Amino acid sequence: MLFPYGKVVTNESFYDRHEIRNTIHQLLKGTQSFTLKAPRRYGKTSLIKQTLLDINQEYFYVDFRKIPRLELFNTQLMEYIYSQMGLRGAIKQIQENIITFLKKHRSTVKVDVTLFEASVELFASDKNEEDKLIMILELLGKLSKELHHPLYIVFDEFQDAVNMSNEIDIYEVMRAEIQHHENICYIFAGSNTTMMTTIFETKSAPFYNFSRKITLAPFDKDELSKEVSQAFKSRRIIFENDVLLDHLIDRCGGHPANTMLVLQMIEFKMLEEDIKTITKAIIDQCYQAAQEEMHDLVMEYLKEIRMKEHLHDVLFRMANHQKQVLDSSSLQQKRKYLVDMGHLRHLRRGEYEIIDNFLRDELINENLQIT
Ligand SMILES: Nc1ncnc2c1ncn2[C@@H]1O[C@H](COP(=O)(O)OP(=O)(O)O)[C@@H](O)[C@H]1O
Ligand SMILES: [Mg+2]
Repeated sequence: MLFPYGKVVTNESFYDRHEIRNTIHQLLKGTQSFTLKAPRRYGKTSLIKQTLLDINQEYFYVDFRKIPRLELFNTQLMEYIYSQMGLRGAIKQIQENIITFLKKHRSTVKVDVTLFEASVELFASDKNEEDKLIMILELLGKLSKELHHPLYIVFDEFQDAVNMSNEIDIYEVMRAEIQHHENICYIFAGSNTTMMTTIFETKSAPFYNFSRKITLAPFDKDELSKEVSQAFKSRRIIFENDVLLDHLIDRCGGHPANTMLVLQMIEFKMLEEDIKTITKAIIDQCYQAAQEEMHDLVMEYLKEIRMKEHLHDVLFRMANHQKQVLDSSSLQQKRKYLVDMGHLRHLRRGEYEIIDNFLRDELINENLQIT
């Protein structure tokens, strides 16, 4: 398949992103922690995994959307710590018999034996998960000092880490410890949400000044256009004329997931009908099919948008090139909110753009229904 959709993409399925890929290589090589912020379905996870793959680095990865409980996070981090000590499958062994585990590995473990013993003690202690978290992070810091290579830790959908505990401020606790970690590169990724802004971008935010901030832009039209026509050519498929592909990319607004969905539909259609020339009619048909497939998600976005006053109106007017009616400070505030939600991108002073092309289309459609 030329254009996979919905899962994390790497290697030959990975398109575009040339410049940012190089920037991230430099950050990674310099063990410089960074934050990658972008709307949902924009290619954050793919980019991070691809760049770590490029520099051939092992890493610890957690997606906080899938880790609702602190206990689970603690266990996974401990497993990683043990793997860095040279012990694979340690947690299972500890759970089976802690004494045997200690005896078996204390003379062969790759790190200082007191560190190893402390880790086992920590595991066996009846402390609550919040206290354990602090101790595990401390342990990680100490471990990194003993190792002769940097560690790479990816915290994906970091805005959802908040859900792990009601007892403590997870972000404060994490920052307090990991700010001292020298040989660890932390990669925080998150969807644009108010929470990401609160964690990283306000002056009183726990992670303010902690890491470099990288924003993921839309796909680059020229770069993508070249690669996509190359990919089709490898299957002996061509576009009927030169501008068709560029128009399609424009129409998708460089939205990575939406673009890939349309391209995949085109790919399948060509295969199914055994044709080799992509025409405007085929593109239109596939674009529409993709739009229909994404309809439920767009409806969810709209529901979310309608929950706060004026947001829908601001977006609606943008999509339909109508004059805004709010006073400038309220308009500014609403736009900022929409940026945090991941629906708007700030281009330059006073200029914004709707991120999801299918959402934009739906708002245009709403207008057509009215008139
Ligand atoms: N560089 C890329 N090349 C090709 N497809 C991509 C790329 N980045 C994102 N996509 C498309 O977007 C989808 C979502 O990507 P993902 O990395 O999961 O985004 P996020 O982590 O921001 O939600 C992928 O399944 C793929 O279809
Ligand atoms: Mg992701």
